[in-house]
Amino acid sequence: MSRVLVVGGTGLAGRAVTAEAIERGHDVVVAARRVPDDDADPYVPGASYVTADLVTGVGLEEAVDGVEVVIDTSNALGKQAANVFATGAQNLVHTAARFGVSRAVLLSIVGADRSAYGYYRAKVAQERAYLDSALDTCIVRATQFHDFVTAIIDRGRPFGAFLSPTRTKFQPIAVTDVARVLVDAGESMREGRAQPDTIIHIGGPRVESARALAEQRKRATGSRRFILPVRLGGPLGATWRAGRNLVPENAVDGVRYGAWLDSGA
Ligand SMILES: NC(=O)c1ccc[n+]([C@@H]2O[C@H](COP(=O)([O-])OP(=O)(O)OC[C@H]3O[C@@H](n4cnc5c(N)ncnc54)[C@H](OP(=O)(O)O)[C@@H]3O)[C@@H](O)[C@H]2O)c1
Repeated sequence: MSRVLVVGGTGLAGRAVTAEAIERGHDVVVAARRVPDDDADPYVPGASYVTADLVTGVGLEEAVDGVEVVIDTSNALGKQAANVFATGAQNLVHTAARFGVSRAVLLSIVGADRSAYGYYRAKVAQERAYLDSALDTCIVRATQFHDFVTAIIDRGRPFGAFLSPTRTKFQPIAVTDVARVLVDAGESMREGRAQPDTIIHIGGPRVESARALAEQRKRATGSRRFILPVRLGGPLGATWRAGRNLVPENAVDGVRYGAWLDSGA
């Protein structure tokens, strides 16, 4: 059993990582700006919670104290992305190193390094902060989560539709499968089985067109809404149409999108 810090452990991926690490018998501390009440949704029984802010640095010393492996699943959108991913990551790695933490696992995105999209550039700055730090780091770049693909498709709702980005494929992955890989990576590093400063790519079990995924979503909801093809503009749309979000050679044997929808997750 080792002490694991899950930064952003109240978020979507972070909750799955926290649950997976506890299930495997680790001592898990979660850091986020808002700590949940015991009965609140993000709370995972067995984890302890510390209030910490990556950007200001407040609470980070308490969070990293006695930790063997940091798993970073933090996230931020819009203008906050650069702060959290660049400044926040720098604050975290420096504080962790000062407190004798030597290993980290970072959750990133497949194709982030091959895109002009601002959020992806911020993710690359976050990756760089880890790779340039004193911590031995494993970066896990994952494809789009099932939840995220669903959120894109459901953006058609105000138009009475399911949205389907044209000429786009996804390889959606369940956050539970991502969590398994992140905790595996943390354990491998701790046991000296992993090379330091590696980048792993993982994707969901199947590559499917956005249209096929939208059709599955439509079937699962039983809705009569139509499927609306939309060309996504900007660098993100271009990145996806170029297939830079796919890693078919690194598909996990995990939960398929249709099965995930059927499970009501
Ligand atoms: N969505 C996808 O399809 C996908 C695919 C591959 C990789 N990823 C990556 O996966 C990671 C996690 O995404 P997610 O959707 O699970 O995130 P999320 O649900 O938005 O959760 C974000 C977490 O970060 C914490 N956080 C935000 N700002 C913070 C700060 N300043 N200091 C400390 N904690 C902070 C949040 O808690 P508080 O707000 O309370 O602080 C929360 O716990 C992201 O880095 C994303 O790039 C996502």
